Parts: sequence; structure tokens; C-alpha cells
Amino acid sequence: MKTFLTAALIVFGIALATTIGRAQAVASTAPTAPAADGPAYGSSGALLRPGDYREWVFLTSGLGVNYGPATAAASTQPKDFKTVFVNRESYRQFLQSGVWPEKTIFMLEGRQAMEDPAIAEGGRKQGPVQFLEAAVKDSARFPGLTWAYFSFDSPQGLTASANRLPDSANCYACHRTNTAVEQTFVQFYPTLFDVARQKGTIKPGYDAGRRIQ
Ligand code: HEC
Repeated sequence: MKTFLTAALIVFGIALATTIGRAQAVASTAPTAPAADGPAYGSSGALLRPGDYREWVFLTSGLGVNYGPATAAASTQPKDFKTVFVNRESYRQFLQSGVWPEKTIFMLEGRQAMEDPAIAEGGRKQGPVQFLEAAVKDSARFPGLTWAYFSFDSPQGLTASANRLPDSANCYACHRTNTAVEQTFVQFYPTLFDVARQKGTIKPGYDAGRRIQ
């Protein structure tokens, strides 16, 4: 009986050590757990517009960032602020690994850049929302694609949900060719670009001098 108990304890000990070892290995390599606070879909399968994305992690805000060639028409367009948010759990996992876990969701919010008599001349503040877009990493739902793109824009205002934009939408090509990490513009997210550099997850072909079009 005593021998049996000792043997059982040894087996248990080995199992425990293996589990702990595995947990530590997971923490220091690529994330395996999908983010629990990721995208939500309605009964028809459309992505639901998150109501609380302004409580997520702020990554960057650009003023008057227009992609593509600098044409005369582009330079006269009214400027806007483009602000990027990501769900919290994916952000935390990225800090550990430099990789986005499954169920990552980004929101790109466009707001009018307003002049205001109360602020210094030439200053701009964020005005009403002009557009709202999403990028989602969900390869189980979008097989062969990994990253899917969505727009909540409509002439009547923002929609409550959105279907995946078709492959012909320009999002896919630009995000595949010009991005530093996976299909995301981590080169413009100052706190994360250093993480990707340290973890070695910047794409081998990434060229910092490349013009985005
Ligand atoms: C010509 C290039 C280009 C096209 C086309 C484009 N984007 Fe982006 N996108 C960018 C850049 C650059 C950023 C980085 C943020 C910034 O500076 O505005 C970005 C950031 C994003 C982000 C934040 C997450 C990330 O991937 O870094 C989302 C979400 C996004 N875009 C959605 C879309 C959607 C949806 C479309 C298509 C309707 C689209 N984009 C089309 C260049 C592009």
C-alpha cells in the first residue's frame, strides 16, 4: 500500500511538473488562447459593432493621413483624425509574444478634425465620427483568410452590424503588402513596434521606406 501511494505521488508529481512546464512554455512563445473579449457576431453571422471600443487600448491617432499618391485633390480634402483601438486581451498577448492571438479585433475610427475658436490658431480637435471600420483575426470563421475587414458606414450613419467586405475591397491588398506585422500596421503603433522588433515578428520583407498606396 505504501509503495502504491509513493508511486502514485511520483506520477502525480511528474504530471504536475509537466503541466507547469507547459504553461511556462506557452507564456514565452506564441499565444494559443483566443482572446475572450474578441469579436461578437449576430445570428446572421454579421460582426456586431462594439459599443465600448473607446474603452479598449488606444494605439495611435493620425491627423490627415491619406493613403495613396499625394494628389492635388487629396491635399484639399478636409483633414480627419484616424484613431486605432484594439481589444485589451489581444494587446496583452501581443506584449508577451509580438503575435496577435485569434479573435483579435481592431477598430479604426475616423473623426472630423475641427477648428475651434477656443483653441490656439491652427489647432484641431476631434469632431463627429465620420467612419468606423474593423479588422478581425478569426481564421476559424474565415478559412484561408485569417484577417477579415468590415465597414460600419452607411449614408444613414453607422450600422449596428456589418458583413465581411468582399475580397475585391481595397483593404485586403493594402493591408497584405504594406504592413510590418501580419496584416497590421504595427509600424505606426509606437509602443508595439519595439515589441515586434524584440520578439522578431516583423515580416522579413518589410521595407520601412516603402510608400503606402
Ligand atoms: C492604401 C492602404 C490602405 C487601404 C486601402 C486600407 N487601409 Fe486600413 N490602414 C492603413 C494604414 C496606413 C493604417 C494604419 C493607421 C493609420 O495610420 O491610419 C490602417 C489601419 C487600419 C486598421 C487598424 C488595424 C491595422 O490593421 O493596423 C483597420 C481596422 C483598418 N485599417 C481597416 C481598413 C478597412 C476596413 C479597409 C477597407 C475598407 C482599409 N483599412 C483599407 C492603410 C490602408
